[in-house]
Amino acid sequence: MPLSTPRDLFIHELSDTMSAEQIILKMLSELQKEAQHPEAKQAFKEHEDETRQQIKNLEEVFKTLGAQPEETTCHAAEGLRQEHEALHQEDPSPEVLEMGNIAGAAKQEHYEIASYTSLVQMAKDLEERDVARLLQENLDQEKAMAKRVEGIAKELGKQARAMAAG
Ligand SMILES: [Fe+2]
Ligand SMILES: [Fe+2]
Repeated sequence: MPLSTPRDLFIHELSDTMSAEQIILKMLSELQKEAQHPEAKQAFKEHEDETRQQIKNLEEVFKTLGAQPEETTCHAAEGLRQEHEALHQEDPSPEVLEMGNIAGAAKQEHYEIASYTSLVQMAKDLEERDVARLLQENLDQEKAMAKRVEGIAKELGKQARAMAAG
C-alpha cells in the first residue's frame, strides 16, 4: 500500500520500531548472559523487562490508532545485531567482549532515542495525545538506559586503565 499521508508514515515508523524492539529484546537477553560486570548484567536484565513493557506500549499505541503493525524488519536494529555477531567472530578476550557489548548497547539505545523522539513529535503533530504519552514513556526509558550504559562504559574504561598500569 502506498504511503501518502503523515499518518501512513507514522504507522510505518511505528511498525519499524516494533520490529526494532523485538530484535533488541532478544539481544538484551544475549547481552545479559554474556555480561561479567554485575552492573552491566543488572542493567541488561532490567532493560529487558522494560523492553517487554515498551512492546506492550506499542501494542496499545496501535490499538488506540485502530491500526495493525505492518510486517516489517527494522534493518537498523538487525544491523546492530549483526555487528554483535561480528564482534564474536573476532575472537575477543572477555574484557574486550564486555567493552564491545557495552559500546554496542550504547548505539542501540541512541538509535531508539532517535526513533522515539521522531515518533513523539509525529504523535503530537497528529494530535494523538495518549499515543504521544505512551511513546514518551518508552523514550524516557531509552534515555535512562543510555546514561546507565555510558556510566558502565566509563567504569570499564577505568578498570582497563588500571589493569594496563598493572
Ligand atoms: Fe526499547
Ligand atoms: Fe532500549
